Amino acid sequence: MKKLFLASFILFAFSSIATAQQLKSPQGEFEMNFSLTSDGTPTYSLKYKNKEVVKTSKLGLELKNDKKSLLNDFTIVDSKTATFDETWKPVWGEVAQIRNHYNELAVTLNQKGTDRKIVIRFRLFDDGLGFRYEFPSQKNLVYFVIKEERTQFAMAGNHTAHWISGDYDTQEYDYTTSKLSEIRNLSSKARSENASQEGFSDTGVQTSLMMKSNDGIYINLHEAALINYSCMNLNLDDKKMIFESHLTPDAKGDKGYIQAPSTSPWRTVIVSDDAREILDSKMTLNLNDPCKIEDTSWIKPVKYVGVWWEMITNKSTWSYTNDFPAIQLGITDYSKAKPNGTHGANTAHVKEYIDFASKHGFDGVLVEGWNQGWEDWFGHAKDYVFDFVTPYPDFDVKDLHEYAKSKGVKMIMHHETSGSTRNYERHLDKAFKFMNDNGYEAVKTGYVGPILPVGEHHYSQSIINHYQYVIEKAVDYKIMVNAHEAVRPTGICRTYPNMIGNEAARGTEFQAFGGSKPNHVTILPFTRLIGGPMDYTPGIFEMNIQKFSPTNTSKVNSTLANQLALYVTMYSPLQMAADLIENYNQFPDAFQFIKDVAVDWSESKYLEAEPGDYITVARKAKGTNNWFIGNVNGETPRTSNITLNFLEKGKKYTATIYADAKDAHYKTNPQAYTIRKITVTSKTKLSQLSASGGGYAISIVENK
Ligand code: NOJ
Ligand code: CA
Repeated sequence: MKKLFLASFILFAFSSIATAQQLKSPQGEFEMNFSLTSDGTPTYSLKYKNKEVVKTSKLGLELKNDKKSLLNDFTIVDSKTATFDETWKPVWGEVAQIRNHYNELAVTLNQKGTDRKIVIRFRLFDDGLGFRYEFPSQKNLVYFVIKEERTQFAMAGNHTAHWISGDYDTQEYDYTTSKLSEIRNLSSKARSENASQEGFSDTGVQTSLMMKSNDGIYINLHEAALINYSCMNLNLDDKKMIFESHLTPDAKGDKGYIQAPSTSPWRTVIVSDDAREILDSKMTLNLNDPCKIEDTSWIKPVKYVGVWWEMITNKSTWSYTNDFPAIQLGITDYSKAKPNGTHGANTAHVKEYIDFASKHGFDGVLVEGWNQGWEDWFGHAKDYVFDFVTPYPDFDVKDLHEYAKSKGVKMIMHHETSGSTRNYERHLDKAFKFMNDNGYEAVKTGYVGPILPVGEHHYSQSIINHYQYVIEKAVDYKIMVNAHEAVRPTGICRTYPNMIGNEAARGTEFQAFGGSKPNHVTILPFTRLIGGPMDYTPGIFEMNIQKFSPTNTSKVNSTLANQLALYVTMYSPLQMAADLIENYNQFPDAFQFIKDVAVDWSESKYLEAEPGDYITVARKAKGTNNWFIGNVNGETPRTSNITLNFLEKGKKYTATIYADAKDAHYKTNPQAYTIRKITVTSKTKLSQLSASGGGYAISIVENK
């Protein structure tokens, strides 16, 4: 599918001894200036519509055990510009075609005294800047260890930021919205508990970071193509308002083992004065390599249900028995264990989910807690936790395979690694073969708890390599991967579209662990989703969890209409209907939207957007003339005004509008919704009130 049907690449090469270079974006709104300071330190700056976005900022890397770092004493020995323009078709996506259009500047630098060369490559798009370090093959720079990357992003003011605290292990935090100058004082409050976490600074934040300047410029900092390198956090010098890269260390405290020739990931700055354009940006995908999978016919978007929310909410358990204080796989004898009576993944119950999926047209059923080991699954630096092939006595793999097949439903495998990456790698071939043999085409992986080997972090280089290894190994077995607790994505799904999902942020599960902020879902598309889709697991209809799980007093901070909208606003080719069957059966009319909504799109139109406040998006279902609209709203009730001018002129459509009732509120009245049907055309204007923590969802079907 990596079809290139319009590509041009023009190269202008010239040798230069100048110390400054300028690059403009194709439409000319961006200007990037590269220069060397008097001591030979590389710097860059970025302007958008003549306004400073990144002030003069230093570039370079501090090395360990080397006589000299790659920070200064450089001269420019070569400089090449080029322009590139292609349009490519993603296997799945928000749109059917993506234009990749940029102007490029590649500066080759030579270091005086060491005679070592690095290339800094800049790509300037109409939506922002990407740049990376390249380490060409050479005699004087072969193996080296990074002590710290010293890439700066000097901000032009005390912007408002939507941030989560810097961390080596988790992104599962609520966002804090504050001025940059307030981060330091808010940082400890911003860190809620997680099974695995390690911060590094009071002014450390994670990417993708979304900011807004006082004069209305939206700035997003992130990275693209994080391969064989450690994940970048940012550390803020809050006197000067300069962010500097802070890489995740390994168990020894080192930040990267590099062998030339190689490259760093791209550092990205997406910019616009219109928030909708940030959501529309395809720069992160464009900075990744084209698809490396020859035959992609087995990669398909998936809508699924599962035996999951009941364990997350404590209604049932992953574990099978309460008999054992600890488990040793292969030694512990489950055949003699007394079932605890709360085990969710039993054959009969899974069949109810298969029936439900089949009846309502879902593609798949996820089952967690099917395999031995859950009685004792994380903590204790336990290496051998699961073998990924041995089911509990009450989970009949063969029977369920046959049953699901007869109902036209695919089973989705679950591999919780509990952070034990080596154990997972040891079992991977067998586990994927087991999936092939039993009809599983997709796997949800998980990395809860501290990473093993001991001392490594979720975002260290070697663990980044582990996630990548799993994705590439899965290609051999034609398996789609949805990784939880792995590093946040950086557009790698362009190259490996079998990576159909990722968590790497605070997902719906936290609504059962005390709740998330009601405006969380108005921020995620500006932050976490910049790198790729999220398995957010929306569709919760019962907000009062205690109604079905007496010990859990957590409330879902969202209205029911907001939950429907998430299928459109949180773009993903993998969408779960996460609630219990019994809760969907109570609201069949609202459930109809989840049944109808598409998971693959040919067009997407961002109609309204302000991070932290609201997002409204319309998407056209691939291969049809039907559209779906989603609006999510933050704390403050708001009237959304949209025009349906994207509909085909002259045609009539039936719109079904699922909206908050007048008295809906995420806290006090979350299940109050209305459904109405109207005829619409491309001239229709809609005005719709969204409640606090609310929203609306619309399906628009062409009248035949
Ligand atoms: C955390 C994941 O995010 C969640 O979806 C999963 O159910 C648990 N880990 C158990 O693996
Ligand atoms: Ca998680």
